[in-house]
Amino acid sequence: MKAFITVCPATDIPEGQRAVFSIKDRWIAIFCVSGRYYAIEDVCTHDGNTLTEDLKGNEMPLEGYEIACSRHGARFDIRTGKVMKAPALIDVPWFETRLEDGYIEVAI
Ligand code: FES
Repeated sequence: MKAFITVCPATDIPEGQRAVFSIKDRWIAIFCVSGRYYAIEDVCTHDGNTLTEDLKGNEMPLEGYEIACSRHGARFDIRTGKVMKAPALIDVPWFETRLEDGYIEVAI
């Protein structure tokens, strides 16, 4: 059963930024875009690469609401986890978020 877990103060992820957290043995990336928070698993469903960084540790940019995997170019929508471009064929897990008393919570 999913339950909301408090992750961090909202001020830790300013507009246009993201942060990655280890929650229940999963790497969860939380993005702040246009004042809303979006959470996806930070693992590409094609071959397990992180989505938020390239192999050198450089941050992968968001393009609108899409993030591209640095290895083979699969793209995902952070609002839904949906695959937007192959070679990935499976959506990345997406998690509901909410703001409670200034803290970001994620349902996992
Ligand atoms: S590991 Fe992400 S596209 Fe291949």
